[in-house]
Amino acid sequence: MGKDLGGFLAIYGAVFDGNGAEWSIGGPTPNVASLLGLLGIPQGISGSHNKYEADVSPTRPDLYEYEYGNDYKVIVPQFQQMFDLQPDAATANYDLSVLTPFRATRFQQSISDNPYFFNGPFSGVLVQPAAYTFIFRFMGNKSAEYPEGILNQDVLKSFFAITGDSGSFTWTEGYERIPDNWYKRAIGDEYTIPFFLTDVLAAAAEYPQFLDIGGNTGTVNSFTGVDIQNLTGGVFDGATLLEGNNLECFVFQAVVQAAPDMLEGTEESLLDSLVGQINGAVGDALGDVACEKLQTYNTEQYSQFPGSTGVDSGKNAKRRYRI
Ligand code: HEM
Ligand SMILES: *[C@@H]1O[C@H](CO)[C@@H](O)[C@H](O)[C@H]1NC(C)=O
Ligand SMILES: *[C@@H]1O[C@H](CO)[C@@H](O)[C@H](O)[C@H]1NC(C)=O
Repeated sequence: MGKDLGGFLAIYGAVFDGNGAEWSIGGPTPNVASLLGLLGIPQGISGSHNKYEADVSPTRPDLYEYEYGNDYKVIVPQFQQMFDLQPDAATANYDLSVLTPFRATRFQQSISDNPYFFNGPFSGVLVQPAAYTFIFRFMGNKSAEYPEGILNQDVLKSFFAITGDSGSFTWTEGYERIPDNWYKRAIGDEYTIPFFLTDVLAAAAEYPQFLDIGGNTGTVNSFTGVDIQNLTGGVFDGATLLEGNNLECFVFQAVVQAAPDMLEGTEESLLDSLVGQINGAVGDALGDVACEKLQTYNTEQYSQFPGSTGVDSGKNAKRRYRI
């Protein structure tokens, strides 16, 4: 990971799911103490739907797919569906030409199966693609011959803690492994934020629905998109999100605007320092990119989506931050 990407993801996790300094990669743990009892118990990234986690994960269920019991275990048939996209072990390579259409399939499954599907501005537009591009960009085995990497069946299974033969796979929680004799990205060829955004935009150019912020309204197949102009006080427009730097400007600035609501319940003095931390991280993430300033962020439209809990409660909606 580029330091820009790793740094942003870590700060984001620490602020929204941890205690501002550290965070759990699973659920709550005594190892990540709450700050003087002010923050409540940090939920970790497993308890972070719509803040950090997204619906439409490759192998995990959506937040409200209750039938699965939790939202973080691997659903073996979902893994099988991904695996089956490259059935020939000798030539299998789970690259983005495979994983992006798989994301489109999963997106449609959420619309068709989950009455509470929600595709949020940060979780849906940036985290969801990461869940797919990270598979190939990081897990692929790099070599001089294949600098982009080859992600074959065995390596994929190892990273996802899957054993057994196709058709009778088993997932063993906690046994996710970097395989032996596996090579990471070359030094100097890190996966950076600009690199990641190139992948995000390429996927959205092919499947414009990926940028539809919105969700099902309580029944399946009721997907309704929000009006981005309304959301952003006219600064951004759904039709031009793919142009120039609009997408990153909108999404990263929305994170700052939504932060006070997402951190609801936090002690006032701490809230300012946490929002300040996010503000700084977003500034670093955007780098030299010049953005038209987002001054308002009207999230009233989210109330029609029962699955949008956590993204914005509206209570702090009057507090706005400038980046
Ligand atoms: C600072 C580093 C990282 C943070 C904070 C982080 C955080 C997260 C979070 C919050 C999710 C849940 C997203 C969702 O709801 O789908 C997630 C999923 C995922 N992450 Fe990471 N991640 C990090 C590094 C990595 C790395 C290095 C890899 C690859 C080797 C990776 C691969 C994945 C994959 C594949 C998923 C989706 C899993 C699935 O649904 O099947 N992540 N990550
Ligand atoms: C990774 O690629 C190298 C070079 O082709 C190869 O020697 C090695 O066995 C591969 N590792 C895995 C885990 O497939
Ligand atoms: C924005 O959307 C909300 C909720 O749907 C609506 O009440 C409001 O009138 C809209 N504002 C504008 C300027 O269209």
